Amino acid sequence: MVSTHPQGVQHSGSQYLPQKRSTNTKPAPNQELLPLSAKVNHHDFLEIGGCDVTTLVKQFGSPLYILDEATLRLACQQYRETFQQFYQGESQVLYASKAWSCLAICAIAASEGLGIDVVSGGELYTALNAGVRPNQIYLHGNNKSSAELALAIESGCTLVVDNWHELRTLVEMGAKSPSKIPIMLRLTPGIECHTHEYIRTGHLDSKFGFDPHDLPEVFAFVSQQPQLNCVGLHAHIGSQIFELQPHRDLATLMVRWLRDAAKYGLTVTELNIGGGLGIKYTESDDPPSVEEWVKAICEGIQATCTAENLPLPKLLCEPGRSLIATACVTAYTIGATKVIPEIRTYVAIDGGMSDNPRPITYRSVYRAVVANKMSAPLAETVTIAGKHCESGDILIHNAQLPKTVPGDILVVLGTGAYNYSMASNYNRLPRPAAVLVADGEANLILQRETYQDLIRQDRLPERLRT
Ligand code: LLP
Repeated sequence: MVSTHPQGVQHSGSQYLPQKRSTNTKPAPNQELLPLSAKVNHHDFLEIGGCDVTTLVKQFGSPLYILDEATLRLACQQYRETFQQFYQGESQVLYASKAWSCLAICAIAASEGLGIDVVSGGELYTALNAGVRPNQIYLHGNNKSSAELALAIESGCTLVVDNWHELRTLVEMGAKSPSKIPIMLRLTPGIECHTHEYIRTGHLDSKFGFDPHDLPEVFAFVSQQPQLNCVGLHAHIGSQIFELQPHRDLATLMVRWLRDAAKYGLTVTELNIGGGLGIKYTESDDPPSVEEWVKAICEGIQATCTAENLPLPKLLCEPGRSLIATACVTAYTIGATKVIPEIRTYVAIDGGMSDNPRPITYRSVYRAVVANKMSAPLAETVTIAGKHCESGDILIHNAQLPKTVPGDILVVLGTGAYNYSMASNYNRLPRPAAVLVADGEANLILQRETYQDLIRQDRLPERLRT
């Protein structure tokens, strides 16, 4: 890491600070490693949202998710504003709340004018309780339960229908519903992209969406259902994508689907192009900016609509990672160190695969800094080990750090997406707290779980009591 850094910088955390840019280029959160408000203060400590990270840890405990409100809001604004700039028709950005669903984050996204994409009754319940208007909520899922469908219909959100079984169930439910059920149809686009195989969804062999070969039949069927109001079509090709071409291709393909739908008597006016824009987890990651991504899609839709002589649809997208990942870091306290001469040095932290399952699941690579040694020289290459009883519980291989001692605060970057939302209680570790920081103020948005919380759902049958 040291030798590849453009300036050959040999000191620790400050090399990751947001880039200074000329005034006419906007910082794009998904192209930074640290949240945009990150600074090194006069004690050489890391500050986020005007709050000293080491003080936050003292106040709220460790590990701690620290979410920078300014970075999250800026990402929401960039998505909205670039759609307004590049798309001549109506547009709507949704936050894919699977990346991190909680009341505060849904409320922030909604206050920035975003709708919410939910994939379960639980995420739907969270969005509704955050005060998101039901007509701004879209329910996804390849196997929604009847209870989830009923909650969605009752609350008045739009259902993104994934398959024939769900479609037929909705026709039955629609017969009892006082008003038409708003739906979109999710289609599998058959577009390949380069990302981890677990987070690719657009290829034909995917569990999500209607097979494109079935389209004539699906469109003809839906057009005959008076209780269903099919407003649009949806597709999503995958996540953590750095190429623009697959989304350009998707834009073209989706407009053609729109045209085909009309041939089967179905007038649909909305297209949802999904999410998927990647973010910078390490200095070698080079994702396109939000602006480049939005522009590529808008141009693709507009050019194909012109070629096909179709009116512009309302255009929706639903990013998750690129809205929230960079806004959050996770602070841990360093504990034991194990030096195996000439082999490896393990530096252990007080969390691991339970609060960030991405390295063990996808071999995801993260960067870290030491919050209380931001300008100290990089002194060692270590393996950051979690505290779980599992050898694979390694958060970072070959982390370049200053010399650390127990009690130092290690900050892992870019943990806003799919960390808390995929966290578990493995080894009965309570899930960490999360704080929202802005202008020197920190608000708790997720309380740390307690041991009491861990046994809350346990039941001890009478005969086992001693
Ligand atoms: N829309 C749909 C239908 C999706 O399935 C997803 C992500 C998104 C939108 C948001 O995609 P994003 O903008 O965040 O790339 N757990 C994995 C990621 C799974 C993504 C699932 N779907 C990870 O940690 O990388």
